[in-house]
Amino acid sequence: MSPTLTITPFRTPARGVAQVPGSKSITNRALLLAALAEGETLFTGALFSRDTRILCAALLALGYEVTTDEAAQTIRIVGLGGRIPKAHAKLHVGNAGTAARFLTAFLALAPQGVYEMDGDEAMRARPMAGLLDALTSAGCRALRADGQPATHFPFTLHTAGRLGDLEVDASASSQLLSALLMALPLSPGASVRMKGATVSEPFVVMTEKMCAQFGRPLVRDAAGAWRCAQPGPYRAAGTYAIEPDATAASYFIALPAVTGAGAGVRLQGYVKGGLQGDTAFAAVAARCGATLTPQGSALVVQTWHDLQGGEFDFNDFSDTFLTLATLAPLASSPTTIRNIGHTRKQETDRVLAMATELERLGVKVVPTAAELRADESLATLTIHPARAALQQAAARGPVAIHTYEDHRMAMSFGILGSYDLFGDGRPWIAIQDPACTSKTFPKFFQALEALRTRFVAVAVDGGAASGKSSTAKVVARDLGLLHVDTGAHYRSVTRALLDAGARAEDPASVLPALAGLRLGSEISGISSCVTLDGRRPADASLRTEDVNASVSKFAALPAVRNFLLAYQRSQVALGQAAGFAGVIMEGRDIGSVVLPDAEVRVFLQADPVARAQRRAAEGQTDAVAQRDLLDSTRATAPLVCPAGATRIDNTHLSLVAVVAQVKALVQSAARLV
Ligand code: DC
Repeated sequence: MSPTLTITPFRTPARGVAQVPGSKSITNRALLLAALAEGETLFTGALFSRDTRILCAALLALGYEVTTDEAAQTIRIVGLGGRIPKAHAKLHVGNAGTAARFLTAFLALAPQGVYEMDGDEAMRARPMAGLLDALTSAGCRALRADGQPATHFPFTLHTAGRLGDLEVDASASSQLLSALLMALPLSPGASVRMKGATVSEPFVVMTEKMCAQFGRPLVRDAAGAWRCAQPGPYRAAGTYAIEPDATAASYFIALPAVTGAGAGVRLQGYVKGGLQGDTAFAAVAARCGATLTPQGSALVVQTWHDLQGGEFDFNDFSDTFLTLATLAPLASSPTTIRNIGHTRKQETDRVLAMATELERLGVKVVPTAAELRADESLATLTIHPARAALQQAAARGPVAIHTYEDHRMAMSFGILGSYDLFGDGRPWIAIQDPACTSKTFPKFFQALEALRTRFVAVAVDGGAASGKSSTAKVVARDLGLLHVDTGAHYRSVTRALLDAGARAEDPASVLPALAGLRLGSEISGISSCVTLDGRRPADASLRTEDVNASVSKFAALPAVRNFLLAYQRSQVALGQAAGFAGVIMEGRDIGSVVLPDAEVRVFLQADPVARAQRRAAEGQTDAVAQRDLLDSTRATAPLVCPAGATRIDNTHLSLVAVVAQVKALVQSAARLV
């Protein structure tokens, strides 16, 4: 067990881009499908956590080529079209339900395999019988050490290499069904039918959608059996982007409920209509008072306007019930969470664990922990408002919350502990074994901490090809800032002016052309892009020879600069509203004119030869020295090193080194005292 972590309540509104890792459910499904595909697949945004490492290690042990790059969050795997290189292996699945179930069905495809399978103590108690029974009917044998048929881990799996017409009881876990569905296309003629119903239906839909993404769609006939109309190996996906984990994101939807007015948290890639059913949590949160604004492929969460209870059926997205359950004591009315019986057989008995720990904090729950212990069939939990009781329970110091090796217990109580219960910043919750989050979100507490920040404006100025964009983009990505390239503003306006027939030498032609232009913004990833009359100019159209030759001339005209100034300043409010931790704006006059009060001001420079070489390496013909001369000698807002700016000469510095310097400046300005 890792040492207990005391949670420091947030005394300022949560702010910034939540660093949510890739989805566990998608990463582990994708790994299996790619192993069963013909050819190589590269995953981006992959999750690196205990459960995905377990599956990668198992695939390596089975003879697959798997290359991981944790810093880049990529995994490369070479699929073998259904062939499993090793016919004998010893595999340990830890407490990873996905690895346990998916691998077992996958291994059944080996013609004459013998696989010794085991898991952690907790895994040995988790349901496997539905899957093992189904595989037995197809000629597989899963045997205990004493030679008797196994119903749980550990067992030795003797495989027959085919599936046949299977019936599976997946009432205890939808993973038992998903495991078989993924193996289905590799066994021509096979079918899978469910006995009764399953829990967490959206995970089955995720499996179906992913089988189709990898080229083998499944169909369900009138009798309810799944088949693959065109069986065969999956098709390698080339590059496959893993969605950020929607369950993990639920903690950051919850955080602004407890951290006071003015919060803004941004969840990149959190979209309805993706693969993950757990995005349904957003609708529950909205009913309880969350302020949510979808913004393209991101979701912005602001301070909740209310925190009220209600009655909710969590069957379809039960992994997120703990997130709501830990907010419930702070709500103005009781919260009832229904249909979560199956979570009593997950990482731990989650309903009992939640009830026990809420009671430890003095919260009234129905049924009580004692009643849950006496009756394993209870599947609903009601949590009553309990602010006063919480204060009483924590009056003598932080209450240590037991986490039962369950990552979701640790993360959800981490959010509750972020609430400033006493109004004086005194900690009142401590999390036992916080490292258990490594199952799906190893850096959860760092990601939480990163949202305890002050909004900062960062001005990056410098001449052409001085490294402004490269530096600003990486700093923005790493620190959750909105990136604004004002050079692109001047280039876009130049493009439009040239297209309208205006000439820099004839200012009278410029004013009427400017008057017709409507500026707007569109956030793409982490960059704010200018729109003209609602349209984003194509990047290539902004770096043409005619734009390069005249942009500095147009940019020297006071009318053009005035036209852009208020717009550029408005980007700070845009960044704030969109949940960013700050704004990093690059250009020639940012620290001197546009944002003279920016908390961080940086001036980048490099010798002219190095800069000309950089442009040439980008394949551009751009007379950087000539543009610099125009930019620095013009009367209005010339290129200068702003007062108080940190000057960095990067002629002989790597990008990594420059980024590190700028990040240190930003982090120190963003730190809350
Ligand atoms: O950063 P860039 O090369 O894309 O910028 C193109 C031109 O825009 C630059 O030569 C001068 C002008 N510019 C400016 O005058 N003020 C800014 N803040 C940014 C760019």
